[in-house]
Amino acid sequence: MTTLAIIGGTGLSQLTALKNPRREAVNTPYGNPSAEFVIGTIQNKEVIFLARHGNPHAIPPHKINYRANIWALQHLGVTDIIAVAAVGGITSEMTPASLAIPDQIIDYTYSREHTFFDGADGNVTHIDFTYPYCQKLRAGLITAAASANLHVSPIGTYGCTQGPRLETAAEIARMERDGCDLVGMTGMPEASLAKELGLNYAALAVMANWGAGKTAGEITMAEIEENLHHGMANAATLLQAFVAAY
Ligand code: HPA
Repeated sequence: MTTLAIIGGTGLSQLTALKNPRREAVNTPYGNPSAEFVIGTIQNKEVIFLARHGNPHAIPPHKINYRANIWALQHLGVTDIIAVAAVGGITSEMTPASLAIPDQIIDYTYSREHTFFDGADGNVTHIDFTYPYCQKLRAGLITAAASANLHVSPIGTYGCTQGPRLETAAEIARMERDGCDLVGMTGMPEASLAKELGLNYAALAVMANWGAGKTAGEITMAEIEENLHHGMANAATLLQAFVAAY
């Protein structure tokens, strides 16, 4: 028995496809999750939705209580998580408004509560994180994109920065040399916390803009909103196809 959750990021603070939604608040040992969970059905399959930045969108990336969110999802019986995230594109395929299913992560974040295994119980636990994303869920997303006639980049390395500021041009150039294809602020520690609890996790990244220094000018909020408008509509279509086949 599997249960699916979708974590929505900037530009996807609710799932309109969710039928008969009910809301559930969960208290956790780590404090409050970002919002109440919205539990409903898509194509008669139960889906649990969480707005990562809260509802209304008010929690910046570095203040999100990732531990509470992931703990609560497991508490609700979730086994599989699709995490939707707005990101910046770095390498040439990652054009604005396009979609990608990353397969690797480089973590540049700091000072975040990033583990359930903080030693408080007297144990030292190291999880394997060679492949940060669930290959089966990734394959499902790639197949769903094809069935919905949507182009996705089927691989990519997600560089996770601390935010909330965007990067400098030199930081993006360094990230590209490191091997990053896209840059976001919420992929970590979300992915590793899911792995710590044994939950399957994959990301659907939506390009909001070119990374800093990739175009002549500065990055504007207007371009981000415009690209997310198109990109998130495609992401919602892809998710419907994914759930239909889930
Ligand atoms: N950098 C980091 N996170 C982002 C960006 C970006 O350029 N765009 C959307 N989220």
